[in-house]
Amino acid sequence: MERETRLVHAGRDPERQEGIVNPPLYRASTILYPTMAAYEGRHERRYTAFAYGIHGTPTTVALAEALAEVSGGARTLLLSSGLSAVTQTLTAFLRRDDHLLIADTVYGPTRVFCTQVLARYGVEVTFYDPRAGAGVAGLIRPTTRVVYLESPGSQTFEVQDVPAIAVAARARGALVVLDNTWATPLHFRAFDHGVDVEIQALTKFVAGHSDLLLGAVTTRSEDLYRVARDGASTFGDCPAPDVCYEALRGLRTLAVRLRHHEAAALRVAEWLARRPEVARVLHPALPEDPGHAIWKRDFLGASSLFGVLLRTGSEKAVAAMVDELRLFKIGASFGGFESLIVPVRPERTARPWRESGFLLRLHVGLEAVEDLIADLEAGFARLGAALRDEGEVVR
Ligand SMILES: Cc1ncc(COP(=O)(O)O)c(C=O)c1O
Repeated sequence: MERETRLVHAGRDPERQEGIVNPPLYRASTILYPTMAAYEGRHERRYTAFAYGIHGTPTTVALAEALAEVSGGARTLLLSSGLSAVTQTLTAFLRRDDHLLIADTVYGPTRVFCTQVLARYGVEVTFYDPRAGAGVAGLIRPTTRVVYLESPGSQTFEVQDVPAIAVAARARGALVVLDNTWATPLHFRAFDHGVDVEIQALTKFVAGHSDLLLGAVTTRSEDLYRVARDGASTFGDCPAPDVCYEALRGLRTLAVRLRHHEAAALRVAEWLARRPEVARVLHPALPEDPGHAIWKRDFLGASSLFGVLLRTGSEKAVAAMVDELRLFKIGASFGGFESLIVPVRPERTARPWRESGFLLRLHVGLEAVEDLIADLEAGFARLGAALRDEGEVVR
């Protein structure tokens, strides 16, 4: 079956629930056992049956099964946020004195967790240039246990050569973990490209409505699932079934929304690339983007999120442009129906960010593209006026 079809049918069985289309919302902490012997045996059933609310209810399992099917992985573990999916994965698979190789362009709070928490617990952390490709082999040590990728990278959208990095990592026995939030499993097939553990912030495209937080960890094998799952339940992390119900509803329309986001974002990106105020658009689906060849080879589509590097570095002038935008609202996150814009200041160590212009990140929502472009056009008029006031030459 095509993935669009799986999105619609996975994780539900109307015949088993009185013909009702969606799985029911089960809320639980306590789960009852018929006998004392069954209760005493609850630890054996913790991966396969309902043992206690923290391990899920039929509602959370419906979402987890649907996600595993759509991703093509063995199983999915759900966590209370995308960030929790990241931190629980790293915590479950890393031990004291292990070495973690992690892309320099990962989501900011992922970076903070590595430098401030993992380092404190004796894990050695090395940030690598996301464009290293097979060259990452030179950084792998005997103690390297996890090679972590995020492609395209947060904020600056470098595309990683996931297959080459995965081959190098697996040859040395390291686990390959990918944050696939940008592309979703619809536009990047993580397990076909050598990834062992796929992380998604379901908060973004799967939820799609800016109203919930949820994370997913999908593993290549049942064994990896059990390691991730034991780690997370030890910490007590679990999502509310209500949130899983909402995310499952979002999942059903993911393909349609993503297709719109992709096409609309590309049109806005192409328009921006022609503007004299713009130095560069950071969007891997544009042919001139340095990551385009790999994106075209490996991805099945793009998404809504990309960067725009302005020629000016004037914070005041950019504020005049951005503060008065009517449709692009200032807010972190992406994947919702509304367009967003934020200033970004990339923190990099392996490949320092040296651009002098002001960098903005845009999420293109589901509004009409013409309206979004008109909004940005008016913004550029304000930018130009502000720069003239400052005496900067407007190109
Ligand atoms: C790439 C990426 N991964 C993970 C996360 C964390 O997701 P959440 O906001 O659900 O914690 C984000 C959030 O912006 C993200 O952009």
